[in-house]
Amino acid sequence: MMDAKAFKQQLLDTLYEPYKKCLQCPLGLLGRKNVVFGEGNPDADLLFIGEAPGKDEDEQGRPFVGRSGQLLNRALTLVGIQRSEVYITNIVKCRPPENRVPLPIESSICMNILLYNQIKIIRPRIICTLGSIALNSLLQKPYSISKVRGTELQHDGIIIIPTYHPAYILRNQSQAPVWIQDFKTIQTKLSPNIRNTIF
Ligand code: URA
Repeated sequence: MMDAKAFKQQLLDTLYEPYKKCLQCPLGLLGRKNVVFGEGNPDADLLFIGEAPGKDEDEQGRPFVGRSGQLLNRALTLVGIQRSEVYITNIVKCRPPENRVPLPIESSICMNILLYNQIKIIRPRIICTLGSIALNSLLQKPYSISKVRGTELQHDGIIIIPTYHPAYILRNQSQAPVWIQDFKTIQTKLSPNIRNTIF
């Protein structure tokens, strides 16, 4: 019999198949090379949602593989979470030109086609949004990221723990300790019975 992981991967593959050359929003005609659907464990307890692929992600077809991704990997390692255990995706799956912020129409089309269905298939226990664009696009409210980071919000019965985007931490290194603290909060929530010896 097929296990949950293989079954969910099959559902994700079926979801992605019609959109490999997606033209549902303007980003399809604005120079993107790859549609970056996401990667990781399709049966993950933890789902990370970023904003949009950057240059490296667009070239490789994988989320968070550039400088932001390397910093995300370091944070995960520090708190003892393996990248292969989690699922990682973005609000929009195509790189906006010059890395501009996705337009509301692009985000809403892409979330309706892909992100909401990814969430339904993966059904994670916790979603961590990276940055204010990811948070406010998913929850459709203008939260202040500096006020709500590290706290618990809700979306469709799933716990949301927002934190800063790694690109922000690269530019504002004084915020790195609180950012790592948010990852620690997530790790503790994921495995409440395991005493963490790192902190
Ligand atoms: N920034 C994002 O928001 N997502 C990526 O995949 C890479 C950089």
